[in-house]
Amino acid sequence: MTDVELLSGVYGAPPPHLADTPRGARQLSPLHPGASDLGAAPPGSYASIVMLAPPGTLERRYAMAQALTALAHGAEFTAIAPKDKGGARMKTELEDFSCTVAETSKSHHRLCVVQRPETLTGVDEALSAGAPRFVEETGLWSQPGVFSWDRIDPGSILLVSRLPQFKGHGADLGCGLGFLAHGVLRSPAVERLELIDIDRRAIEAAKRNVMDPRAHLHWADATGGDPHLSKLDFVVMNPPFHSGASEDKALGQAFIRNAARMLRPGGVCWLVANRHLPYEAVLAAAFKSVRLDHDAGGFKIYEAKA
Ligand SMILES: C[S@@+](CC[C@H](N)C(=O)[O-])C[C@H]1O[C@@H](n2cnc3c(N)ncnc32)[C@H](O)[C@@H]1O
Repeated sequence: MTDVELLSGVYGAPPPHLADTPRGARQLSPLHPGASDLGAAPPGSYASIVMLAPPGTLERRYAMAQALTALAHGAEFTAIAPKDKGGARMKTELEDFSCTVAETSKSHHRLCVVQRPETLTGVDEALSAGAPRFVEETGLWSQPGVFSWDRIDPGSILLVSRLPQFKGHGADLGCGLGFLAHGVLRSPAVERLELIDIDRRAIEAAKRNVMDPRAHLHWADATGGDPHLSKLDFVVMNPPFHSGASEDKALGQAFIRNAARMLRPGGVCWLVANRHLPYEAVLAAAFKSVRLDHDAGGFKIYEAKA
């Protein structure tokens, strides 16, 4: 491969005032539907990568090890993270991979710039520690970085215990590893279930976890209008309330509005939410009727009718 053919990559959305992303850089984050899979890049195929490094240690070391492997010798790697969300540890983590690191500090972030050394150390260990795996405790395939990757979320356990026997065609918005889908598909009257998540790693794990011909998986943004998903009989969800590492109530509210748009008149949406989240007004505005089904252990479960 010649220099001319080498690629530029960007992972996530590094703040533009902290680092320039080359025009035409390929998106590499699993949280961007349609992005290239950094793990599938031939070694040495990238001329530069700029990364907003993920907050979880296993996930961050995995992504940085993948990036360094994908870069050509001498190519530049820039990793950025908020200081209190992994940024303070990045320099040492990169030095552990045998990189010489130039670190700067700006706007509560740390910025580490390295030239990919000829020989890397410790990347195999980081790649294996962050890889997809079967988690015995949950009985599910998973991967560090996916929501609640090594324990079942207590809100989801509660929701599954309250769900009715659904019928017809439905959707699981923000399906994660597919735990809610298992509960839904216990009903033989369910004809088809769309599982939608923005995280490629979750969708890949859910493919292994939900081996049911009625399940159809989509790596997509559940807040975007999908004309194919309309007139549904039911929707289930444990809506996200984080974007990256920060709380984002608007995201859960957008899930609620989109669920209402996807349902046929009389279709139902069942959802669980941490009780502090401000969803009542949005539910009341988007649906014909809303019933609080359960309020316990810090969670609320609603049944909303379109
Ligand atoms: C609270 S978790 C629930 C996961 C799973 N349903 C469960 O019960 O364990 C929310 C899920 O929504 C996904 N998500 C976040 N933003 C999304 C978006 N815009 N579109 C689709 N999925 C999204 C996350 O990746 C995460 O898997």
